Amino acid sequence: MPAASKSAKDFFRPLAVGAPMPPREIPARPSRAIHFFDPSNAKMAAKVPDMIGTVDVLLGNLEDAIKADNKVAAREGLVEIAQANDFGGTQLWTRINALDSPWVLDDLTTLVPAIGDKLDVIMVPKVQGAEDIHYVDRLLAQLEAKAGIEKPILVHAILETARGVANIEEICGASPRMQGLSLGPADLAADRRMKTTRVGGGHPGYLVREDPDPQQPDKHRAIFQQDLWHYTIARMVDACAMHGIYAYYGPFGDIADVTACEDQFRNAFLLGCVGTWSLHPKQIAIAKKVFSPSVEDVAHAKRVVAAMGDGTGAVMLDGKMEDDASLKQCLVMVELAEQLADIDPDLKAAYDAIEVDA
Ligand code: GLV
Ligand code: MG
Repeated sequence: MPAASKSAKDFFRPLAVGAPMPPREIPARPSRAIHFFDPSNAKMAAKVPDMIGTVDVLLGNLEDAIKADNKVAAREGLVEIAQANDFGGTQLWTRINALDSPWVLDDLTTLVPAIGDKLDVIMVPKVQGAEDIHYVDRLLAQLEAKAGIEKPILVHAILETARGVANIEEICGASPRMQGLSLGPADLAADRRMKTTRVGGGHPGYLVREDPDPQQPDKHRAIFQQDLWHYTIARMVDACAMHGIYAYYGPFGDIADVTACEDQFRNAFLLGCVGTWSLHPKQIAIAKKVFSPSVEDVAHAKRVVAAMGDGTGAVMLDGKMEDDASLKQCLVMVELAEQLADIDPDLKAAYDAIEVDA
């Protein structure tokens, strides 16, 4: 689909008369953990008010993991929770049902008029191409216009089909509402006919093995497990960065394996993701730890920034060369630390305590 099919000057025109102006930039709001809850589960729903302020994003899930019989209750439960609470600095997101499901139209036509002023982002599952985003984009504009919503609701796509991966750049650029992408490793594995039955994370069979020692053919050969998701996460990060939006890891289903969960989250963080999903309260703590730069990294970054003065040329620090490019790397760290310090008093105290001697 050639981008020129629509004039550049029309890209930011509302798609319905009376709809809010589409955003020109997607703000970098901290979203280290997107915590999923089932609004039809009374026990889970009751905990939501107390979680406000403890997690960057609360997401009312309407799609997979919600039984068909509970779809309506989940939708109505989300409306109730959203109307009854002030979310303060915590973002409220939802994951709607898939576009080919019998529930999605009612999801959108119910949620937007009822709680469209409270919903920050709508996560759309199983996105295949730009056409899916165009559909949601227009429908949202119509519903926003009708309901008098003043702030455009943003859209986040889950990457969970082979076609979605193949169309990743056009998906990210399909609407000014696009906020980001998450990896959907379970659906994606199934769609690609991968042979893992795990929800995210590695697989012991996906490895490289040390070469044999010709002198000692029976000697143990070390094996190194590889990251099954490296390729897809790297593609997501590039496509998102190119379009000024944000990449996220997705679900890590083995709740008990907190170590592997932390490793998977950290791989995504190092590659450029800004956050991840949390399926259990204990994953919130892991995500917050991993997706907040360490005090040591921020201290180093601030030291480089101070030493680089006007930002040009090169300096030596601890025997290492720093220049304009490494300064930019350090600014990524410092800017993230500043954004997080704004919403997290513990981090603010830790980062503020850093003393820079260049
Ligand atoms: C998430 O939705 C997944 O399919 O992994
Ligand atoms: Mg899925």
